[in-house]
Amino acid sequence: MKFFVDTADINEIRDLADTGLLDGVTTNPSLIAKSGKPFIPLIEEICAVVEGPVSAEVAATDYETMIKEGRKLAKIAHNVAVKVPLTPAGLKVCKELTDAGTMVNVTLCFSPAQGILAAKAGATFVSPFVGRLDDIGNDGLTLIRDLVTIYENYPHFQTEVLVASVRNPMHIIESAKMGAHVATCPPDVIRSLYKHPLTDKGLAQFVEDWKKTGQSIL
Ligand code: E4P
Repeated sequence: MKFFVDTADINEIRDLADTGLLDGVTTNPSLIAKSGKPFIPLIEEICAVVEGPVSAEVAATDYETMIKEGRKLAKIAHNVAVKVPLTPAGLKVCKELTDAGTMVNVTLCFSPAQGILAAKAGATFVSPFVGRLDDIGNDGLTLIRDLVTIYENYPHFQTEVLVASVRNPMHIIESAKMGAHVATCPPDVIRSLYKHPLTDKGLAQFVEDWKKTGQSIL
């Protein structure tokens, strides 16, 4: 499973890239607004830090403006994945950019039917929002299972399931069990994956016992 970080905070991105475990980045207009930085130079900066796909979302909702924005974003760096909403206009843009060789992330997917459309439009990634489905009393993970199953049934679908709106480690673990290709997670959720009290306890014991030997490896 690939890990993307869902943030536009360049310091967080640098820090997580340093772990060697980061495969990409996703941003959205809300995260860009939160960063307080100008969009295009920020995406440029992120693309220089992370080799994998960096999602940059269009701002318009009409086809004509979205396609122009998408083409502009695609020129920022070779690893930009243009993010478009799951609307008729968004999927039209998706198909056109995909045909031109650009990676596209179709966002705001909330149903299997929408996921089929995204795959038919040739999306590189589809982003089902598990947390937001949970928030309205649905089971977000059921959507992940449905999408993975559907895509497996049609091997010519090249679209990867990018689990989005991740709120906790269980979203990641359960999605991984289902075979989802990617999870994009807030930085604190990625960091929480390292944690287990028995790891801390066991390490403290080993450090203590090693001291007793009076030895040094180096
Ligand atoms: C991913 O690409 C989305 O931008 C993100 O995961 C949305 O998460 P949220 O529901 O926590 O805002």
